[in-house]
Amino acid sequence: MTERTLVLIKPDGVRRGLVGDIISRIERKGLTLAALELRQIDEDMAGRHYAEHQGKPFFPSLVEFITSGPLVAGVLEGPRAVAAFRQIAGGTDPVEKAAPGTIRADFALETQENLVHGSDSPESAEREIALWFPNLSD
Ligand code: PPS
Repeated sequence: MTERTLVLIKPDGVRRGLVGDIISRIERKGLTLAALELRQIDEDMAGRHYAEHQGKPFFPSLVEFITSGPLVAGVLEGPRAVAAFRQIAGGTDPVEKAAPGTIRADFALETQENLVHGSDSPESAEREIALWFPNLSD
């Protein structure tokens, strides 16, 4: 069954010129792009996207980072798209958790500047796609 997931290539990925490489990995995995857009988001949008992290110690710096420059937002489609993208992204901590060969292990050093975001469940994907791409939601 086809599933959808939200992907963000965060501002560090855009600044470092890794957008093409990351999209290539997504396409080679077999996931399909249903939407793709360069965006600059404000604090309000960052707070909505990361609502579940409000109140955590890293929340203020997370908002500052995600609003620090343009990012690429997209919707991926495919069987088990949520888990498939999280597999190729690697764990949140690029050194301690991400497996070699994943986007984060190969290109990142820090838990904050870890290049990509992917929805963590089909339910989160539905909420995040409705927030970022309301025209795509049912
Ligand atoms: S948590 O705390 O278990 O809910 O963390 P997680 O769901 O793995 O990811 C939280 C997102 O916040 C970003 N971030 C940090 N997480 C943990 N610790 C620190 N210090 C931190 N700083 C930033 C992290 O990159 C996750 O971002 P997304 O975009 O969801 O991958």
